[in-house]
Amino acid sequence: MTTKLLEVENLTKKFPSSVKTSEGKGEFTAVDDISFSVSAGEIVGLLGPNGAGKSTTINCLLGVIKPDSGSVTVFGMDLQKKRTEIMQKVNYCSAEYNLPWHLTVYEALLVFCHLYSVKNAKERISELLGLFELEDLRNKAVRELSFGQRARANLVKSLLNRPRLLLLDEPMASMDPDIVDKGIKLLKKIQKENGMSIIYTSHNMWEIEQVASNVIFINHGKVMAQGSPLELTKQELKLETKEPDLREVFIRLTRRKEKPL
Ligand SMILES: Nc1ncnc2c1ncn2[C@@H]1O[C@H](COP(=O)(O)OP(=O)(O)O)[C@@H](O)[C@H]1O
Ligand SMILES: [Mg+2]
Repeated sequence: MTTKLLEVENLTKKFPSSVKTSEGKGEFTAVDDISFSVSAGEIVGLLGPNGAGKSTTINCLLGVIKPDSGSVTVFGMDLQKKRTEIMQKVNYCSAEYNLPWHLTVYEALLVFCHLYSVKNAKERISELLGLFELEDLRNKAVRELSFGQRARANLVKSLLNRPRLLLLDEPMASMDPDIVDKGIKLLKKIQKENGMSIIYTSHNMWEIEQVASNVIFINHGKVMAQGSPLELTKQELKLETKEPDLREVFIRLTRRKEKPL
C-alpha cells in the first residue's frame, strides 16, 4: 500500500524529430526516465529551463500524452487503467490554457462544474470568483478578458472540484506582481485548508520559494537535483545560508555539464 499521493516511475516520452538527434533515429527524448513522488499536502516546484520537459511531464500526469514507458500512480491507482476515476479529483491550470472563448466566465465555469459533478455549482463559482476578485467579470465573455484576467479565471476553474492533486503549469505567467502575490497567498490558504497536493512550474523563482516545500529540477528531460529550496541553495551554491536563492541555483544547474542524479 502506497502512502504517496502520486508516484512517477521511470517515465519516458519520446517525440518524432525532423532534426537528426544524437539518438540518431529521428527521435527526441523530451522526458528521460524520471522518477519522483509527491506526498499528500505537499507542494512540489518543478523547475527547469525552457524545453526541459516540464509541460510534457505534466501532460503525461494528466494522461493527455501517453508515455513510451514508465508508470504513473495517482491515489494508489494506475493512471492508464483508472484515468476517468482519477481525473475527478485532479485539476490543471496553465496561463496558456483557454476557457471556451464564446462563453461568459460564469457559463464557462458552469460547464466545468458539470464535467466534475460539483455540488452547489453556483455557490462554488461565486465563492471562487470572490476570492480571486473576478466577481465583476462573471458576465463578460472569456475572449474579452485580458491575459491576466484569463489566467485568474483559469485558476478558479482549476479549483472548482476541490482537487486532491493540482497541476499548475506556469499559472501566474503574465499576471502583475500584485496579483501574483495575492494569487500565491490564496493558493497557499486554500491548500492549507484542503490539504491538496500541488505540482507547480514557474520561471519566477520567487513564486517557487513562496510555495514549494520541495523542488525537483529537471533539464534535458532528466532529474538533476531535488530538495527543499534551502537545501538546494546550500548544496548547489556550497554555502551556509538561511535564505534560499533559487535564482542562482537555477542558473548554476542549467549551465552545469555534470551527469544528472
Ligand atoms: N508535441 C511535441 N512534438 C515534438 N516535440 C515536442 C512536443 N512537445 C514538446 N516537444 C519538445 O519536447 C521538449 C520539452 O518540451 P516541454 O515539455 O514543453 O518543455 P518545458 O515545459 O520544460 O519548457 C522541447 O524540446 C519541445 O520542443
Ligand atoms: Mg512548459
